[in-house]
Amino acid sequence: GLKKKDVNVLCLGLDNSGKTSIINQLKPSNAQAQDIVPTIGFNIEKFKTSSLSFTVFDMSGQGRYRNLWEHYYKEGQAIIFVIDSSDKLRMVVAKEELDTLLNHPDIKHRRIPILFFANKMDLRDALSSVKVSQLLCLENIKDKPWHICASNAVQGEGLQEGVDWLQDQIK
Ligand code: GTP
Ligand code: MG
Repeated sequence: GLKKKDVNVLCLGLDNSGKTSIINQLKPSNAQAQDIVPTIGFNIEKFKTSSLSFTVFDMSGQGRYRNLWEHYYKEGQAIIFVIDSSDKLRMVVAKEELDTLLNHPDIKHRRIPILFFANKMDLRDALSSVKVSQLLCLENIKDKPWHICASNAVQGEGLQEGVDWLQDQIK
């Protein structure tokens, strides 16, 4: 078959938002981990779609590791930014980290696609993706293509829609 195009993706967002769980669901079932543990530093993962071969930098969201993110911005060709939709207390922290990302010199002037997952939509007190989008002021992102999907990384719901969008932005 045709060689798939290689794409580097950065998976960013606060600790406990579900980044590793999402990436795990996107991997082939024989490569999926049974137990998800908090990421230390970062892990490199791979998954494929119909036309693309993704290499994902699954970064730790813990405060002490967030300063690692920027070292990989240059290499990233797309961003997956994950939000815990039920973590209302830290929505402002997620917004701060997003704003810092968007203003970084290695990101600011690039038309890099950003896929947002409003994750943990299964939890009773989860905010809708529309509400998450409002709280993060996503409508202010004018110079990059972006898209937000509600997701449940435990059941794998909402992930395909997001990855289909990402593939369309890149191919
Ligand atoms: P760090 O590696 O520390 O940055 O965290 P992370 O963003 O990779 O989160 P991780 O995937 O480790 O998930 C954290 C916890 O949330 C785990 O207990 C997951 O099972 C749980 N979790 C992830 N996604 C969902 C979801 O959609 N719904 C529910 N209910 N729990 C989820
Ligand atoms: Mg993780």
